[in-house]
Amino acid sequence: MALKIRKLAFALGAEVTGLDLKQKQSDDAIAQIRQAWVDNLVLCFPGQDLGPQEQMAFCSRFGELDDHRSRPHWNRPDFPEVNIVANKPVVIGGKTLQVLIADKWHTDMSFSVRSATASFLLSKTLPPIGGDTMFANMYRAYDALSPSMQAFADTLEGVHDVSLAPDFHRYTPELQAERRRNHPPVVHKVVRLHAESGRKGIFAGGFLRNFIGYTEQESRPLIDFFNTHSTAYEFVYRHAWKQDDLLMWDNRCTMHFAVQDYDCSQLRQLQRCTLFAPVSGRFLDAGQPAAASTGMA
Ligand SMILES: [Fe+2]
Repeated sequence: MALKIRKLAFALGAEVTGLDLKQKQSDDAIAQIRQAWVDNLVLCFPGQDLGPQEQMAFCSRFGELDDHRSRPHWNRPDFPEVNIVANKPVVIGGKTLQVLIADKWHTDMSFSVRSATASFLLSKTLPPIGGDTMFANMYRAYDALSPSMQAFADTLEGVHDVSLAPDFHRYTPELQAERRRNHPPVVHKVVRLHAESGRKGIFAGGFLRNFIGYTEQESRPLIDFFNTHSTAYEFVYRHAWKQDDLLMWDNRCTMHFAVQDYDCSQLRQLQRCTLFAPVSGRFLDAGQPAAASTGMA
């Protein structure tokens, strides 16, 4: 069966069918998927009931898997490359995994000098209704800025801080300290040039604390503008999950938001793999050693 691509929304998103991802894909199929991913930013592969090893095998065809060494509290004990995203503590192999709630617009691992390229999220258990994920197209957000604002944004560098995570306040003091230790603040350009598409996109999100050379108070209104502007309806696709949907998105040109519009007494559990990006940021404090999360330790 041939691979079929169908757009899901005008702004971004496409569905890919005709593949059984339990099977090893040909190099040609991987190349087609990669092009579809670069073109559509978010891909949905429905009906892919993959185990952790099968998901890792597919995802690793697109780059280097993040072993999540900086975030062990969310990893499967048997396959640390697989994070569990769940709204309740889940026990796997005797290990109780930390809850992860991401109801804030963000780009995965923006608080790392190796911010993620792709994230792959596979739905395993869903609430009866709700629990959608929204995605924003940061190319369109950049393109819609005035030329003057584009020129100004091009000059900015932003500080990304892990302690701005939406569920940071729920962590124990020990876990908060560990998260800060593993991820000291990093600096990224506010406008990124995508290595494969050659397009510019805004790089903002919920981890952005301030701009270099500006106080947090001075930065806040413009950060709020970038985040609000970038998530206007016309730049967003909202995914209503079905069981065994595998989503693959490009963190280099999108943000996402896990909507908490469901009965939170019900379990919502997904499994994630992430790909390391090349080093694209720097530590705010130049004296910082390479964090364990960077894959460079
Ligand atoms: Fe995320």
